[in-house]
Amino acid sequence: MCGLKAAQPKMHFLSTAELSKNQLNQLIESAGQFKSGRDQSKPLAGRSVALVFFNPSLRTRASMQVGIYELGGNAVVLEPGGTSWTLEHRAGAVMDTDKTEHVAEFVQVLGRYCVAIGVRTFAALQNWQEERVDPILNAFAKYSEVPIINLESAMHHPCQAMTDMMTIREKLGVGKKKVVLSWAWHPKPLPMAVPNSFALAAVQMGHDLVIAHPNGYALDDELMEAMTDQASETGGSVNVTADIDEALDGAEVVYAKSWGSKDFYGAPEKDIAERAQYRGKWIVDEQKMARTNSAIFMHCLPVRRNVIVTDGVIDSPASVVIDEAENRLHVQKAIMARLIH
Ligand code: CP
Repeated sequence: MCGLKAAQPKMHFLSTAELSKNQLNQLIESAGQFKSGRDQSKPLAGRSVALVFFNPSLRTRASMQVGIYELGGNAVVLEPGGTSWTLEHRAGAVMDTDKTEHVAEFVQVLGRYCVAIGVRTFAALQNWQEERVDPILNAFAKYSEVPIINLESAMHHPCQAMTDMMTIREKLGVGKKKVVLSWAWHPKPLPMAVPNSFALAAVQMGHDLVIAHPNGYALDDELMEAMTDQASETGGSVNVTADIDEALDGAEVVYAKSWGSKDFYGAPEKDIAERAQYRGKWIVDEQKMARTNSAIFMHCLPVRRNVIVTDGVIDSPASVVIDEAENRLHVQKAIMARLIH
């Protein structure tokens, strides 16, 4: 895993893990400059950035395309298996089945046309041990001669997490906050990239993070250890509870997200059966928000209304989800301006 890493001659943005609190704040401040219009630089003038989507997207795709345009550049959008060839990522693979092109050639060819490559590749939720190390994203980073930007992988969504940190600072000011990341019931298991990256970035920024989830829905052990280490450096804290009501007492930020259990990768029907007991209980509603310290409500979107969050909460003044989505544009412009010179 590497963050905004000066591994010459290329730098990648794969997660926030190796960025300092100072570097994260610099990116947020740069995003603020773009948002206010004080920074109107065009570092991509006359250049192109490839955006590779293995999965659907609204915010990421639109904000990256608009951001590249506003930085003076051109976006080349590709969908492996749709608008480009199916892709193999495994080193040494014998490609005698359904995959037409290897990531090795794919990224090196794109690197001759484009100054960076963004890639979205969700977890397949099939094999936890394989997917937890982000094999497709890391194959892109391994073979690429230009910067790779993670637009959501199996384990991380750092552009979203940086946006979330910017939005908290914009709404509540600098300084530590009580931030609650709450699991929510959803009819099917979802990837863990958003909660992983949100939790990590919150601790890196020095917030007091409470992760609330039912038993059996813990985040990755190694990531939890990394967060504990980060908390000791940044003055933040990380706690885990299965008591959502207790977690919300005094919260200043409520971040709702559903994710699948790593115990049930490859067996979604077991996860669906397990989580059925939480329907109607693990939802952010008006009663839960009333326990907080006038918290803002956050979600990365898309969100299922009256499943993850009630209409009464998402339509209330506490909800910042649209501003949060807007900030994707400004943060990603800051990331591209930092990576591409
Ligand atoms: N939050 C987010 O990444 O949205 P999309 O999946 O629509 O890109």
